[in-house]
Amino acid sequence: MTKSAKLVLDGKETDLPVTVGSEGEVGVDISKLRGQTGAITLDPSFANTGACESAITFIDGEKGILRYRGYDIADLAEHASFPEVCHLLIYGHLPSQAERAEFRTRLALHSLVHEDMKKFFEGFAPVAHPMGILSAMIASLSAFYPEDDTLEEIDLNIIRLLSKAKTLAAFSYKKSIGQPFMYPENDRTYLENFIYMMFAVPSEPYEVKEVVRSALEKLMILHADHEQNCSTTTVRVVGSGGANLFASISAGVSALWGPLHGGANQAVIEMLEVIRKDGSNFQKYVDLTKSKDSDFKLMGFGHRVYKNFDPRARILKQSADEVLEDLGVDDPLLEIAMRLEEVALADEYFIERNLYPNVDFYSGILYRAMGIPTDMFTVMFALGRLPGWIAHWLEQRNAPGGRINRPRQIYTGETSRPWEPLEER
Ligand code: SDX
Repeated sequence: MTKSAKLVLDGKETDLPVTVGSEGEVGVDISKLRGQTGAITLDPSFANTGACESAITFIDGEKGILRYRGYDIADLAEHASFPEVCHLLIYGHLPSQAERAEFRTRLALHSLVHEDMKKFFEGFAPVAHPMGILSAMIASLSAFYPEDDTLEEIDLNIIRLLSKAKTLAAFSYKKSIGQPFMYPENDRTYLENFIYMMFAVPSEPYEVKEVVRSALEKLMILHADHEQNCSTTTVRVVGSGGANLFASISAGVSALWGPLHGGANQAVIEMLEVIRKDGSNFQKYVDLTKSKDSDFKLMGFGHRVYKNFDPRARILKQSADEVLEDLGVDDPLLEIAMRLEEVALADEYFIERNLYPNVDFYSGILYRAMGIPTDMFTVMFALGRLPGWIAHWLEQRNAPGGRINRPRQIYTGETSRPWEPLEER
């Protein structure tokens, strides 16, 4: 592979260094371009721009490959626990027996939130969206655990965040249904505790169903990281300014909320409901999405990187069937989703544009089957993505020569003009 690229601009040739990643990806390094040529590049949605070098997650969009630290997503979904994947993403290796036990104990011992934080929940309107609550509460953790630059303190804040986020998420659900908060129990595993805090009530014993726990484990693992997506890039940009962990992750939660990103899992269910109420007229909605006069999109379809299939969607489609059967749930939306996929994937418009179901297309069906309400779906995505955001925040923070992220622009506004007194406007 050539070690440089040649740019010819106004007849002047400039050699630009080329970097090649461990999976053969080629990047033209333009970090000195403006100094050498006076020009910048323009790539408004960064579709062709690498913001960093990263050793955390590899995606091959053409081949439908997704690996965390070199481990294939199908292997991790099949064999790993979510805390093991958290450890892998954040510390770079799967934990040994001893590390696994210590990690689990640390997560258990930091799952409570300061009692004063409960008062914040009283201020939220009952209809507050749990993503707004989660973002606010994660930022508020910085008031209770002030930033400290020592490695030990940063690591302790990582454990605190991983453990408390699920408690805050469960509290936001209890708040929305007016039930008392349930406290975590240290002898329960990470996800068992979350399910317990979500669905148990003080007066009754609660048994976590294994099929729910294992389905949730798979969902969390599948969402744990996805290289430089919108919310992870947000976390890296905010962290590049030196903002603390809680502030940076809170920004990531807000970025994930959008319906084109993590909010899509909620939008998919709302779309399937509309199609169901409209007599499951799939072709009508496929045609709507193709019409230039409508801004209707098939939510849960398409991806910036995957131009073949999203491996996560394949795994979820497979487990949706099994989990709903195990739970004895007969959800008409699953049938509608599968038929819609069939109709869309046979349509030229989708084939031409390489539009396939993404991770959000089936995840909502599974969350519904577990009894999780629709407006908590993106919170579930955020809980899954937490270790990925943390790993990228750390990688950005530890990058040698790491600089504040500050892109350039091409100005297209008014050129210089004289002041206009009020009476002359
Ligand atoms: C996630 O980046 C990540 O890694 C994200 C994520 C992660 O794990 O972090 O994978 C999670 O966000 C998954 C995506 C969830 N969003 C949705 O399901 C919303 C619906 N999808 C689209 O909005 C869209 O596909 C995006 C946002 C996912 C990708 O947008 P791009 O890359 O900017 O693609 P595009 O909008 O330029 O689309 C290319 C063409 C366009 O048609 P033309 O203008 O060429 O005629 O495909 C069309 C689009 O109109 N198109 C769709 C479509 N998605 C793209 N048409 C109908 N329905 C869709 N869903």
